Amino acid sequence: MFAVEALSAGYGPVKALDGVSFTAPEGRVTAVLGANGAGKTTLLRTVSGLVPARSGKVRLAGRDITTVAAEKLSGLGLAHVPEGRGVIAEMTVTENLRLGGLHRAAGTPPMTVDEVFDLFPRLGERRQATAHQLSGGERQMLVIGRALMARPKVLLLDEPSLGLAPRVVTQIFDLLTRLVAAEGLTVVLVEQNARSALSIADLGVVLSLGRVVATDDAAVLAADEQLRHAYLGF
Ligand SMILES: Nc1ncnc2c1ncn2[C@@H]1O[C@H](COP(=O)(O)OP(=O)(O)OP(=O)(O)O)[C@@H](O)[C@H]1O
Ligand SMILES: [Mg+2]
Repeated sequence: MFAVEALSAGYGPVKALDGVSFTAPEGRVTAVLGANGAGKTTLLRTVSGLVPARSGKVRLAGRDITTVAAEKLSGLGLAHVPEGRGVIAEMTVTENLRLGGLHRAAGTPPMTVDEVFDLFPRLGERRQATAHQLSGGERQMLVIGRALMARPKVLLLDEPSLGLAPRVVTQIFDLLTRLVAAEGLTVVLVEQNARSALSIADLGVVLSLGRVVATDDAAVLAADEQLRHAYLGF
């Protein structure tokens, strides 16, 4: 189980997160939604120790990880896939994946590249391609696959659908659904694309100006016309 409790963070005078609380149940997808500047990326960066929390707590499997350094978190089972699909362009798909297995919990065997290729057959077909030859959708699979190499329990994803064609977004989200079912992963999915995210999520958390304005089952949020118009853009 993964939870944040009254988490606040910011940048100088900017209060980007203001007392955010929610629980992401194990083996489920929790979508964190909200407009530009709502605080979604700051939330993931604070959880990952890249932005210091000003107050509040982050808990992973009952343990308080609020002040654990970013580089230690993969060893505790947390993986963060930032926005932007950063890969090493000159390296092959296989080489990029291997990098993801370098930092992991003591005693945890790395996932093998073949296991990743079983989950993402398209990456297997492209295993010898260099990362700069990949399409946007393939790159997104690669950064998710690279994160899986450390066998995380909790996967934080920042806007995986950004800039992808609707058909490709559907493919990526279908892959995520299969992944959660196959690996029992707990996923926190940050998205501006609320309609697609809610279609695969179990729960949703809606942020506005750094605060939680709604938390509920994904289907309940998707059916709330007022909330959709006010905060979700569909
Ligand atoms: N490095 C930074 N320095 C100063 N202010 C920042 C910084 N990063 C974000 N902010 C501000 O913090 C607030 C939350 O931004 P954040 O990037 O977390 O939002 P977001 O929900 O991820 O938005 P988007 O949908 O555009 O990615 C905004 O007011 C933003 O301008
Ligand atoms: Mg963002």
